[in-house]
Amino acid sequence: MSVPPILSLDAVSKRFDPRLTLGDRIAAAIGGDVETRAVQAVRDVSLSVAKGETLGLVGESGCGKSTLGRIAAGIMAPTSGAVRLDGEPVIGADGRKHTTRIQTVFQDPFASLNPRITVGDTLAEGPIAHGLVTAGASRAYVAEWLDLVGLDPSYASRYPHQFSGGQRQRIAIARALAMKPDVLVCDEPVASLDVSIQAQIVNLLLKLKRELGLTYLFISHDLGVVRHISERVAIMYLGRIVELGPTLRLYESPEHPYTQALLASVPRLVTSDSDLAEFRPIAGEIPSPLAPPPGCAFHTRCLHAGPRCSAESPALLATRTGRATACHLYTGGVEKAA
Ligand SMILES: Nc1ncnc2c1ncn2[C@@H]1O[C@H](COP(=O)(O)OP(=O)(O)OP(=O)(O)O)[C@@H](O)[C@H]1O
Ligand code: SF4
Ligand SMILES: [Mg+2]
Repeated sequence: MSVPPILSLDAVSKRFDPRLTLGDRIAAAIGGDVETRAVQAVRDVSLSVAKGETLGLVGESGCGKSTLGRIAAGIMAPTSGAVRLDGEPVIGADGRKHTTRIQTVFQDPFASLNPRITVGDTLAEGPIAHGLVTAGASRAYVAEWLDLVGLDPSYASRYPHQFSGGQRQRIAIARALAMKPDVLVCDEPVASLDVSIQAQIVNLLLKLKRELGLTYLFISHDLGVVRHISERVAIMYLGRIVELGPTLRLYESPEHPYTQALLASVPRLVTSDSDLAEFRPIAGEIPSPLAPPPGCAFHTRCLHAGPRCSAESPALLATRTGRATACHLYTGGVEKAA
């Protein structure tokens, strides 16, 4: 990467331990059916996002995207590893986020907007609290941000329920941007919207990125949306990044068997009859993150799996094609299936 990273994640892992009541513990001790295993949500992830870049993060439901996004945004502490913004830790030794330079936009704007507070007050709250604007100047400040996201500044006096889903997502974006961040973590920001509105919000995010020089970590399970918005894409499977590379190259010639299977399983990417013949769902079930398979976690579903795959976890290594792939096919010892 020629541009230095603004955001970097270094060997980040997150484990969710079960919250056991005393009753659960007693039941477990006498052999009752109580889940005592921890969820391995994110496992040893290292990633860098360059200033001005959009990095897409893709994977099936439950693979750890949102957990990784929350950790990257500093709103959840990792179990181990570190997140840095321009080299400085995002979470301090006290376990709290130390910067407003990373903000988030989530899937459900209604859930993240207080129904009893006007849009104007919602947008002004954070900037006033952090000294970005005075209370006296906040009306004009809020009007500017509403205008920038394509909303009439007079909407500041309205309440969240008076808006459509797309408008609410614009408000959520304006609220994040009013904190003057450098990095925006967007977690499924269009997943709850109609397809036509999705395109408007994606195009708004692209425009804002150009105009404000923002950097995005864009999380989605929608491969089409991610392809449209991202310069690079990271593919996640059961808590790990399995492939990372420039968007077009990764979509046109995926290297990791999971990326290949994921792309082949998406009907909306099918563009011709020959593509249709290629379309096939990924075989098998996603293993539980309570007990990820040993070695390569994809070996239980992989057409190429060999003995090394269940014994040894492949590292995410640079390949000759300018990307990184975590698969023994590229490091020797596993033959490609015919
Ligand atoms: N607060 C939590 N406590 C316990 N387990 C959690 C918690 N948050 C997430 N998990 C578990 O961690 C794993 C990863 O969840 P996460 O929400 O990060 O996945 P995801 O890729 O964002 O999924 P989706 O596409 O459905 O949003 C899942 O097994 C989930 O059940
Ligand atoms: S390491 Fe083995 S099981 Fe994993 S994706 Fe590569 S070939 Fe398949
Ligand atoms: Mg999620």
